[in-house]
This record gives sequence, C-alpha cells and structure tokens, in this order.
Amino acid sequence: MATPKILIVDDDLNIQRILVFALKQEGYETVLASDGETGVQMALSEKPDLILMGAAMSRLDGYTATAQIRSNEQGTRVPIILVSEEASVQQRVRALRAGADDEIVKPFNRLELLARIKALLARNATDPVLAADVDAGGKIIAFYPAKGGVGTTTIAINTAIALARVLQKRVLVMDANLQFGDFRVFLDLGLDNASIVNAISEPDLDGDLLRTMVVHHETGVDVLLAPPNPAAGDIVVERAHAAPDSLTNLLKETRRAYDYTVIDMSKAIDDFNLQLFDEADLIFVVMTADLSCLKNVRLVLETLDSLGYQRNKVELVLNRANANTGINLANAEEALGRSVEFQILNDHRTAMGALNSGAPIMSGRPESPLGKSLSAFAREIEKETIAAAQRRKPRVVTRG
Ligand SMILES: Nc1ncnc2c1ncn2[C@@H]1O[C@H](COP(=O)(O)OP(=O)(O)O)[C@@H](O)[C@H]1O
Ligand SMILES: [Mg+2]
Repeated sequence: MATPKILIVDDDLNIQRILVFALKQEGYETVLASDGETGVQMALSEKPDLILMGAAMSRLDGYTATAQIRSNEQGTRVPIILVSEEASVQQRVRALRAGADDEIVKPFNRLELLARIKALLARNATDPVLAADVDAGGKIIAFYPAKGGVGTTTIAINTAIALARVLQKRVLVMDANLQFGDFRVFLDLGLDNASIVNAISEPDLDGDLLRTMVVHHETGVDVLLAPPNPAAGDIVVERAHAAPDSLTNLLKETRRAYDYTVIDMSKAIDDFNLQLFDEADLIFVVMTADLSCLKNVRLVLETLDSLGYQRNKVELVLNRANANTGINLANAEEALGRSVEFQILNDHRTAMGALNSGAPIMSGRPESPLGKSLSAFAREIEKETIAAAQRRKPRVVTRG
C-alpha cells in the first residue's frame, strides 16, 4: 500500500499540531481541515485512507460531519475515528450511530491512537466485505447465538434452504457447533457422514476433496456436518489452533464453490469463533426479546466493536419477534442503542413439527407463517449482498 493519507479534522490548533507530528513521525501523510464543513468536503475530494474527526467543533460538529460523510456514496468506506472530549456510553453510542468506526477520548495516549489507526487501516485493506475484488467468490454469512435456544440453528438451516430453493443459489450450510452440533437431528442425517473434522484435517484441501466431504441434502443445500462427538470437536479446535490457515483455506474453497456459505456458530467467544467472525462477510446475531438476551447482545456488540469490524458487518435478528415476552422491538432497540435489522415470527407449531419430522421448515412447510418469514429474510440477505457488491463497484454513468 502507498503511504496512507490521514485527514485530520479539528478546530483546535493544538490538537492539530500534536496529531500531525505523531502521524508524520509514523510515516503517514496528513491533510488538515479546521472545521467540520471543510472536513466533509475534504473527505470526499482528498480521498483519505482514514479520518480523525474532532467531536466538538463550532462549525459543524464531528458527529454531524461523520454522518454527512457516510451519507455520501464515496464516504461509506473510509474508516473514521472520532476524537471526543469525554468518555461516556452516550458519546460512544452517538459516535457509532453517526457511522464512526472507533472513538478515542482526549487526552489520548499516542501509542494507543497509532495502534487503533493501524488496526483500522489493516482491517479496511483486508475486510472481505470491502475488498476491491467483487468477483472473489461467494459470501460467508455467520449466525451467532446471543444465547442458547434462541433459534440460531433453525434460522441458519432454513435460511440456507431458502437461498437454495427460492433464490436458486448454490449454498453450503456448515455446523460450527464443534461440541454439540445439531444438524444430524435437524436434517435427519446419520453419524457415518464425513464432517468438518475431515475437511480441516486435510492439508491439501481443494474443491474436489471438499466435494467428497459434504452431504448433498435432499432440500437442495450441501451440508458440512459438525464433528460426531465432543472429543472429535477438540481435534478441530487443536487443528485450527496449530494451523490457522486450515480454516481459512477451507472457507476459501467454500467461497469458490458456493454462492453462500452459511455458518451456524456456537456461543463461545474463543479463537475458533473469532476467526469465523473475521472471515465472515456478515454476522447475524440471533436474539429473542428477553432481558438476559439483551444483556448478552450488548456484550457481543461491544466485543465485535472492539475487534474493529465495520458497523454494517454485524446485524441483529430478533427471533420469535411476536412472542409475548413483555419486551417489544422498541424496548429492545432502546436498550441496545441501535436498530434491530430483522425479525422472524414466532411459530411454535411449525418449528416443533419440523424438528419432530426431520424435514426442515423450508422444505416441509414453506407456506407456513414461519416458512414465509424465513424466505422473506433470505430475500433481504440477497438484496443486501447485491447492494454491498454495488457499493464496491465504480459507478457506470450512462449519458443519454
Ligand atoms: N421462530 C420460531 N418460532 C417458534 N419456535 C422456534 C422458532 N425458532 C426456533 N424455535 C424453536 O426453538 C428451539 C431452539 O431452536 P434452535 O434452532 O435449536 O436454537 P439454538 O440453535 O439457538 O440453540 C427449537 O425447539 C426450535 O424449534
Ligand atoms: Mg443450535
């Protein structure tokens, strides 16, 4: 990468001087704007690789300036760090809502600031959602449970089937619950099938080999099963730990062979799951409307946030949305300080019937309320994937 260019927006001349000095010493190129309005203009005209945005400025504050940059098509990608005056949850939420990627509070430690800049620049260069190569292959979407039993496996499997059946996509659905995978129950499959243990243990995994390890399920999706028992699950963890490339390589092959790799994750925040978060293009955090779930979602969002992911990589899915829990969507959104992007209906009868018969909802009862809700969700995902790809493509202007 050429010398990264950093735009500093602040009306405090002292801060400007300190930042320019620190950044130049580190070898960055700097450009300066002394108020928010100029900052917005320069964000678009100078095309910086990163922006340090002062929060409190007299002419257009940093939050508004950030939101204005984000609302412009050219400004959706650039990492923005808000430099704020006080550390508070409200300020942080405000910064994130405006579209900032990170926030740092004055007086800041120079090394910490540099570390955050470095992390964001690296992330932006490698983030698969934002990578320049649109045709790099299929998308990886991960479903992460805010808590056990919220319906993550149900949603992952049925979204996969909907993408295959309704939208005619090539789909692999992968059970990453290494200890207690449920796919064999949900899909009525036996213990004798190959699993992720085989896929991750194969040093020369390629598309042909991968094909021998997936189950072609009658619903139209290919399935990569979880290990048959918890001990075999440990093999996967050890292998992924000893050779992190093995998981990366597996997902590279699935990207190549499928339009969508749908991953059903376990709740653990461990190395294996962190790597999955990293590889995923979209992370759907699945939740229900109850207090312990909301608490977990908050913690998960904080964790994902501290990993520096772009805000639009993480989305919330409220399952059993119309169940009578005493907490509604508005309460949940207020408690979380952000919006919940997707809702899936509560439909106990269909969900239970599917489990007992071994025929997933989207193949056995696609016209049920839950089936319709799940196919609508799959359509939204496809729309979003297309929109993300469009955002990365240079716009073609046709003159008529
Ligand atoms: N939208 C829904 N409406 C009714 N029941 C549901 C719904 N989604 C999931 N369930 C039921 O909730 C239980 C837990 O679902 P599961 O997918 O195994 O959750 P998780 O993978 O998060 O532990 C299952 O009995 C399932 O049938
Ligand atoms: Mg599950």
